[in-house]
Amino acid sequence: MLRTRVVAVDPLKPDEGLLEEAAKVIRSGGLVVFPTETVYGLGANAYSREAVIKIFKAKNRPMDNPLIVHICGLEELEMLASKLPDEAYEIAEKLWPGPVTLVVWRSEQVLKEVTAGLPKVAIRMPSHPIASSLIRLSGVPIAAPSANLAGRPSPTTAHHAIQDLYGRVDLIIDGGETLFGVESTIIDLTVKPPRLLRPGPIPVEDLERVLGFRIDVPDYARGLSEAKRAYSPGVKYRHYAPETPMKLVESDSYDDLAAYASKLIEIAEECSCRGLKVVIVASRETTRYYSARGFQVLELGSRKNLYEVARNLFKTLRELDEVSPDLALCEGFEEKGLGLTIMNRLRKACKHDIIRV
Ligand code: TXA
Ligand code: MG
Repeated sequence: MLRTRVVAVDPLKPDEGLLEEAAKVIRSGGLVVFPTETVYGLGANAYSREAVIKIFKAKNRPMDNPLIVHICGLEELEMLASKLPDEAYEIAEKLWPGPVTLVVWRSEQVLKEVTAGLPKVAIRMPSHPIASSLIRLSGVPIAAPSANLAGRPSPTTAHHAIQDLYGRVDLIIDGGETLFGVESTIIDLTVKPPRLLRPGPIPVEDLERVLGFRIDVPDYARGLSEAKRAYSPGVKYRHYAPETPMKLVESDSYDDLAAYASKLIEIAEECSCRGLKVVIVASRETTRYYSARGFQVLELGSRKNLYEVARNLFKTLRELDEVSPDLALCEGFEEKGLGLTIMNRLRKACKHDIIRV
């Protein structure tokens, strides 16, 4: 058990003194939880084998699931990668710093523990002021997965990271709630066309428009199937799952929400009749239908603002475990724009237990 320090840092005016202390922890091989614009990360010096191994232990993460390396300048990208394709510069110029991770061929600089032995490395330049200052002050790239215990929903507040990692890390920086609430988009640039490994905060349609090249979206990026390990090793692991058994109720269309809700209610009432306590995870538009039938509802946000839904998603999955019903029924969303990201996370959270109505 480690003595974990928790410090609050204002994300808009980060206290350099406190961040310098955090950077010292990184430099001396310790573990620091820090906010990024997506979710909280559990960081260590990417150049220290011992420090990187500590990350896997703290999270109970299998050693064959590689880590993203967080950088603050293009020189680091060139140092960590070999044979950078034009698309990497395109993305770095247009979208960095920001919530997009590149997978590129790795250089000799990268530890095999970081990439789990793969010849490719995942790299991202976060835009969160605390994250970028921490990397800059540390003077080394920071390897960081999301700051949750393996299999738990990613943390969007320091409180979530404290729930999972208190006593397992040296320092937790509390920088408030994260902006996007879902993890970065991951694009594999070692294949042609570039392949989406994980949808994130920026819709693929927008990425394609801004970047001017097509991005291949395989089924596993939609959360529908498992990827081969060589593509995206993390995909095979149970992810984001609440303890509460959850079923996702999907439909081909969400145009007639009243009709959709009544089908979901039928399922919920059938489960209630069997003596199960059912909670419904729903959009704001349909909440009233379920409440009117006496069901407890956890609201994700409005279908008209999928950023809100994405932002509340992991927090809501954690809340669900606090309520701890026998079963959760969760609404689906149209797989367009950010809907793809949301459905990827929900399909994994329900462990592919999907009911089609
Ligand atoms: O937004 C984010 O990306 C957050 C913040 C902290 O930056 N990080 C994050 O890391 O979500 P993590 O470890 O929870 O998810 C990273 C995913 C894993 O599924 C892992 O398998 C995949 O990235 N990954 C890492 N390196 C890879 C590689 N070389 N090739 C393919 N996939 C890789
Ligand atoms: Mg994670």
